[in-house]
Amino acid sequence: MAFADYQHEIYLDGLRGVVPRFPMSYDDLEPLALAALPPAVRSYVAGGAGDERTQRANVSAFERWGLVPRMLVGAAERDLSVDLFGMRLPSPLFMAPVGVIGLCAQDGHGDLAVARAAARTGVPMVASTLTVDPLERVAAEFGDTPGFFQLYTPTDRELAESLVHRAEKAGFKGIVVTLDTWITGWRPRDLSTSNFPQLRGNCLANYTGDPVFRARLGKDPEDDPQAAVALWAGIFGNPLTWDDLPWLRSMTDLPLILKGLCHPEDVRRARDAGVDGIYCSNHGGRQANGGLPALDVLPEVVEAADGLPVLFDSGVRTGADIVKAVALGATAVGVGRPYAYGLANGGEPGLVHVLRALLAEADLIMAVDGYPTLADLTPGALRRVG
Ligand SMILES: Cc1cc2nc3c(=O)[nH]c(=O)nc-3n(C[C@H](O)[C@H](O)[C@H](O)COP(=O)(O)O)c2cc1C
Repeated sequence: MAFADYQHEIYLDGLRGVVPRFPMSYDDLEPLALAALPPAVRSYVAGGAGDERTQRANVSAFERWGLVPRMLVGAAERDLSVDLFGMRLPSPLFMAPVGVIGLCAQDGHGDLAVARAAARTGVPMVASTLTVDPLERVAAEFGDTPGFFQLYTPTDRELAESLVHRAEKAGFKGIVVTLDTWITGWRPRDLSTSNFPQLRGNCLANYTGDPVFRARLGKDPEDDPQAAVALWAGIFGNPLTWDDLPWLRSMTDLPLILKGLCHPEDVRRARDAGVDGIYCSNHGGRQANGGLPALDVLPEVVEAADGLPVLFDSGVRTGADIVKAVALGATAVGVGRPYAYGLANGGEPGLVHVLRALLAEADLIMAVDGYPTLADLTPGALRRVG
């Protein structure tokens, strides 16, 4: 079935008097989702660093590019599939890691809902280290869709290795190491309510269930949750350097992907150190304000990656954005807040809707504009908006 067929389903339902349960645009979805979330989760998800200029710039950067329509192509069938680390995925779309996604679902088990949505749509989940349910339970819901584990590297190397080896054993297909969050950026929305979910004991299941973490704690985390949080806070963030990269590489034979790379020099160094993928992202503007939109650095990252797959996120809100990111060289394109909001507003069905809508729009743009495959989407298909 083509992704575009989602619109047939919707129009045919209309003939029976049924209109969509969920909003059709991000702008309509966002306020509904924010209203559905408890205040502490709302500010954590919606907010970003500083005055959130970079967060907004991530989104508006897409407006500066336009796809040039090509006619008489006869793009009746489109192929959005992509080869990633030897796996064939039905589309370039994936769900970026969102710690606290567990709390975005009404039942508090959003990680499992996301994994099930991945199984239903073929859109991979990158599961955060910070989940309500442990990674083993999350992976058990993936079905045939590959999943990736995102590592926040703790200062305790043995704990890092334990997390990675558990992810391998659970069936994850790649390890994404996030580099830009060993320390939390300045987030006024959360600061103004002294709100940091993990310090309140949320989303720490991967730690509290880990044998190494438990050994370090020396007692059952349930008997002393405050001690568990204190231990977590003490080991969470590792200010990694290039000297740590051989160790990171040695931890796993799974594809190793570094998240947060935005400078071509860093990309070349990572490549030389034997990573399998580059993940270009500025964390959705949550970590450092005053930066460039991630989209603006994507072309030079792609050039420096020199054939390595480049995953991209930050600011993607529509199917058109997916198409543009692919045209600028991304191998796979991630969304963060859009799927968190889909889940918050409509649970698993609301999340599946968001993913299907994004893919339908991307597919239809490729149909209308005459770009039948991802390979046809090159920088030459785009023009700067005047
Ligand atoms: C609430 C929230 C929590 C996040 N948690 C993580 C995380 O645990 N690990 C990580 O690597 N990135 C995390 N991110 C960043 C996302 O992976 C992604 O880079 C970002 O959301 C993309 O930008 P977008 O929200 O504009 O789509 C988080 C983002 C949000 C919104």
